[in-house]
Amino acid sequence: MITTAPTSTKRVVYLRCISCGHEPELWQIAPQCEECGGLLEVARDLSRYDAASLRADWEARRGGLAARDRSGVWRFREMVAPLEPEDMVARGEGNTGLYAAPGLADWAGVGDLRLKHEGENPTGSFKDRGMTAGVSVARRLGVGTVACASTGNTSASLASYAAMAGMSCVVLVPRGKTSAAKLGQAVAYGAKTLSIRGDFDLALALLQKLAPELGLYVLNSVNPWRLEGQKTIMLETLEALAWEAPDWIALPGGNLGNTSAFSKALVEMKELGLIDRLPRIAVTQAEGAAPFAAAYAAGWSVLRPVEAETIATAIRIGDPVNYPKASAGVRALDGVVTTVSDSEIMDAKALVDRMGVGCEPSSAAGIAGIRKLRAAGIIEKEASVVAVLTGHLLKDPDATWAYHTGSNPHANPLAAVDADERSIRAAMEVL
Ligand SMILES: Cc1ncc(COP(=O)(O)O)c(C=O)c1O
Ligand SMILES: [Zn+2]
Repeated sequence: MITTAPTSTKRVVYLRCISCGHEPELWQIAPQCEECGGLLEVARDLSRYDAASLRADWEARRGGLAARDRSGVWRFREMVAPLEPEDMVARGEGNTGLYAAPGLADWAGVGDLRLKHEGENPTGSFKDRGMTAGVSVARRLGVGTVACASTGNTSASLASYAAMAGMSCVVLVPRGKTSAAKLGQAVAYGAKTLSIRGDFDLALALLQKLAPELGLYVLNSVNPWRLEGQKTIMLETLEALAWEAPDWIALPGGNLGNTSAFSKALVEMKELGLIDRLPRIAVTQAEGAAPFAAAYAAGWSVLRPVEAETIATAIRIGDPVNYPKASAGVRALDGVVTTVSDSEIMDAKALVDRMGVGCEPSSAAGIAGIRKLRAAGIIEKEASVVAVLTGHLLKDPDATWAYHTGSNPHANPLAAVDADERSIRAAMEVL
């Protein structure tokens, strides 16, 4: 029996607006502050937890039979959401691989590189970590319909978790800019899927406006519980590294939910004493969708939304809603933000794929960013880096196929061979 519990339940976990400090009721449906419209965060009195017993309980649950115990999200439940077990819509998500990548480390020029493959989640992306948390809170709230705007993965994940929880689901996606694989998931899992003649940013703005009137519970990353679930990517990584923080965490940045969640998780783990130093964070955006990088370069003076365009459709986002949390997070971790071109993204993806690990284009932006930051002397030569691969290779087969059938540096083209022994022998000679 797992017994970790804070010494008292009074105000251990509560919601707080990061803009005006308002503390609304914990189980409220509005995802943002109703006083000022600011972002809410889940705050915790960490002095009420015992770090050693947390660590022991997190490890012990891993061997449990119940999905909510072995889940790579719910085994860390004290840092996710204070829910009763029956509210946890869990399926053993998380527990993703952390792969050594020595060849890729050499290519990037760093001392040690490991890949945390979030594409190994049930629907193929890190979003499942956020959705298991968000849909469980939705169950606690008793809501009937959950909703999101999405570049693809969010809709696939929400549709799946909503179906498992017996809830209705509505998703808004930008027309013609979502991979067929992701759209196919949303439709197949039964979401009402609205293809919007506009981009992701517009879809999200429309949803935020209409949600109260239509009675929808919004599960984009403006929802603070989503981020609590996504924090477990860092918790699981640190656990796998025996709570020795790497020098750097590298990831792609779109709507900046992960940037916010990872920095929150790392700061909390340091405060709990589970790690003794903070890693730095390296966020990479696609050149055509880089408002966060521009704000960083301008000394965080202002975020100027852009009209986004990139082959990495998952991060084709021009007005990231989590900017206030993410910019504070990057500052707290002495982080950096950079950009890479679409061809750098696709070349890096080809190398990750070639390892046998594989990822979707957006994930590879983070990898390309490591090489760029190393070349600029920002990431040190001997640095240890953990890069988070956010989505599975199968999420965007069109992009993969276009790369390998084009004249690209790491292309592995199909060989068309006549169906006779001589031709096959001749084709094999080049191996
Ligand atoms: C595969 C993938 N990578 C990265 C991102 C961007 O993540 P964030 O919005 O947390 O910056 C997304 C978001 O849709 C995604 O699906
Ligand atoms: Zn507020």
